[in-house]
Amino acid sequence: MKVICTEKSQILATSLARALKTTVVEVKYSRFPDGEHYLVAGDLDEEMIIVGSVVDNDSLVQLILLIDACDSSKNQLVLPYMGYARQDKQFSAGEPLSARAIAGILSRGVSKVFVVNVHDPAVLRFFDIPAHSLSLAPEIGTFLKETGCKEPLILAPDAGAARFASAVAGVNGWDFDHLEKTRLSSEEVSMAPKNLCAEGRDVVIVDYISSTGGTLATASRLLYGQGARNVSAACVYGVFAGGAYSHLISSGVRQVYCSDTIERGCSLYSAAGIISDGITRC
Ligand code: R5P
Repeated sequence: MKVICTEKSQILATSLARALKTTVVEVKYSRFPDGEHYLVAGDLDEEMIIVGSVVDNDSLVQLILLIDACDSSKNQLVLPYMGYARQDKQFSAGEPLSARAIAGILSRGVSKVFVVNVHDPAVLRFFDIPAHSLSLAPEIGTFLKETGCKEPLILAPDAGAARFASAVAGVNGWDFDHLEKTRLSSEEVSMAPKNLCAEGRDVVIVDYISSTGGTLATASRLLYGQGARNVSAACVYGVFAGGAYSHLISSGVRQVYCSDTIERGCSLYSAAGIISDGITRC
């Protein structure tokens, strides 16, 4: 078994190879004069672990080409971040079901797939092969403990991420809750923890994804307004579209942490361990 990866998943792939006690196959990536992607892989094994986050369209094309180049029915696919997974319903006529389209394409040429914290587990049914979702919540809990966090309040920004927050907090026996929106008027909405009080607390907001940063930034400002002492944020995928990271910092978020599912300067915890365990187990 060897590991191979797209250009934007090299760091995670290297950590995964170390965890699996194997090596990463070198790939030369280039483009044809018209801009089309091209690649040449080094010495392949009969069983390849193909790692590629779909962070943009170039990464998606590289992943499709890599699966084709590896060409063995024993190959396994790792999608640390599955772009397009959030369009998982047809909200109006004429729209694509993007998650289904991408899952269908990526099912060809691999025997199983692992996705880290897929947006909605129902997305897994769109793959034509066995598909497994792996949760990074325990790693985030352990990481926060190691940073010296003492009895923080772990808060999900909405009910949808409440179970995730509970799994992060559960590692250390910390308090957890989720924010609940109350509509004050047609224009005004307030948000506060559903059951607990943020006053005087060190709060860590945990979410699957930070995209525009709007959700975490709004939550941060409201929590300071309710007397929180410190607000930090930890997510699985740091998309940080546009100026999202700066927006978070200027909204008072003291520390922003994310994983290497999307490789960033603030990727301070790795999905390598849970992926390696998943591959060994399944
Ligand atoms: C999805 O898991 C949640 O609704 C996220 O809170 C949301 O997608 C984050 O997006 P943004 O950073 O753009 O507010």
